[in-house]
Amino acid sequence: MNMQQHWEAVYGAKAPDQVSWFRPHLETSLALIEHAAHGNQAATIVDVGGGASTLVDDLLARGYRNLTVLDISQAALDVARRRLGERGESVQWLRADVTQARLPMASVDVWHDRAVFHFLTSAEQRLGYVRTVTNALKPGGHVVIGTFGPAGPTKCSGLDVVRYDSEALSREFGEKFRLIESAIEMHTTPSGASQQFLYCHFAMAGGAAD
Ligand SMILES: C[S@@+](CC[C@H](N)C(=O)[O-])C[C@H]1O[C@@H](n2cnc3c(N)ncnc32)[C@H](O)[C@@H]1O
Repeated sequence: MNMQQHWEAVYGAKAPDQVSWFRPHLETSLALIEHAAHGNQAATIVDVGGGASTLVDDLLARGYRNLTVLDISQAALDVARRRLGERGESVQWLRADVTQARLPMASVDVWHDRAVFHFLTSAEQRLGYVRTVTNALKPGGHVVIGTFGPAGPTKCSGLDVVRYDSEALSREFGEKFRLIESAIEMHTTPSGASQQFLYCHFAMAGGAAD
């Protein structure tokens, strides 16, 4: 299956607030990103698979000014861009497949992903993702990632997913990444279903503490 076609069709067919992963605000992501950025509003933050989510709106409203939203779907990026209008002009919008993307080396302070990594069902895709994030992060940079938890759904958007606990997710990222904190969130979908998410905050080796 061509993944870009799949996601373009999803965003072409559904209103942004009707997809199962919609939340008016990504509160847990915001809290973990603020912790990872240590209040530095100049931090370079990339929202991977950001889709049409309001995270970028909320980060701009908190004063963060070096923001990139990367997504495989141009339609998703267009929704967010249109919603933000002039406020989104400083944001870099990047249509790319994260498993193959090449971001500028050692340029990112905080990498955020909510509900993308769990779609990577082959080891090759996951290795490609970890290669991308390892190259893109500054030494000591941070990863804030949300996946379905051990009791989460086995499918999303018609696609199979992999569910993680914090140990399994740590193993995927490997020894360069140290787990700082993790949290479980119960997400209620627009149709009222409950989905378990796991959030992890990792720091990559190379910072002052290493
Ligand atoms: C479940 S949605 C989550 C969207 C957003 N992060 C949120 O929490 O509202 C998954 C998003 O990841 C994007 N996506 C899926 N596979 C991707 C890939 N390989 N590279 C980049 N983006 C991808 C999809 O287009 C979609 O916007």
